[in-house]
Amino acid sequence: MKKRFPAAVLTALLSVLLASSALGQPGKAPAVEVDLQARLKEVESTPRLLEAAHKTGVKVASFCANCHGEGGNSANPDTPNLAGQNTSYLLEQTRQFAEGKRKNLFMEGMIRALSTEEKIGVVLHYAQQEVAYKPPTNAALAAKGQDYYNKICFRCHGDQGRGNDKIARIAGQQPGYLTLTLKRYRDGSALRSDPLMAANTKTMTDVDIAAVVAYVSSMK
Ligand code: HEC
Ligand code: HEC
Repeated sequence: MKKRFPAAVLTALLSVLLASSALGQPGKAPAVEVDLQARLKEVESTPRLLEAAHKTGVKVASFCANCHGEGGNSANPDTPNLAGQNTSYLLEQTRQFAEGKRKNLFMEGMIRALSTEEKIGVVLHYAQQEVAYKPPTNAALAAKGQDYYNKICFRCHGDQGRGNDKIARIAGQQPGYLTLTLKRYRDGSALRSDPLMAANTKTMTDVDIAAVVAYVSSMK
């Protein structure tokens, strides 16, 4: 497992990486807005581009691994897994960070430093990684969460929690991150908001959230 660094060390590391242009091209913001989703489709359907994207993805992911873990399975319950995550969803989140619509100081800077090809490469790389299975720590709570999940959440995230191309996979996601995220949607946080998720968490109590998290984080 990779050693995790404190945020200050990572910030310093990031500026070194940027200066050496191993990641992105600082100061060279794209002149025209790139349609990331259209470029993703183009790369996916062109074998030569796809091969190059995978190589780029491996290179970029070696830096992300400091927080998101080897193969995208985070070792920190507050940092999301990227393993097995759906490509269009991931790419949309990179857009939200880059535009400051979703807020996290480090991630906003990190994503702005990546080129379009680096974003697409890293997203394709993570989508192919396996999510590590974590059995539930409290089976009774997880069973309650399963009932809740099967009434509400399955409609968009699917019976197995895998979402679809555009909707997040949540199966096996880190429990601390899930709790934080569900409370942000419910409470209308400025850090992250979404109308569909606000509507679907509005009536959740903290106990409902704990139960759903116990279930979802242990889904395969
Ligand atoms: C210093 C630690 C750190 C590093 C390094 C890092 N991330 Fe993150 N990342 C986070 C944290 C923490 C979050 C959760 C932010 C939040 O929602 O509050 C996150 C969230 C994300 C998300 C959203 C995931 C989701 O499920 O919605 C994506 C995508 C992402 N990071 C991509 C990357 C990529 C790509 C890299 C490498 C180029 C990277 N990150 C490097 C800490 C980091
Ligand atoms: C009507 C469709 C819909 C329903 C029902 C729904 N979701 Fe979502 N969910 C979404 C969408 C769309 C997003 C992406 C929002 C964004 O970009 O922030 C999302 C995002 C999430 C995320 C963030 C994933 C990540 O990696 O950061 C979590 C966690 C989540 N949903 C959990 C749930 C749970 C638990 C329920 C049931 C209580 C639920 N959702 C019900 C549509 C839905």
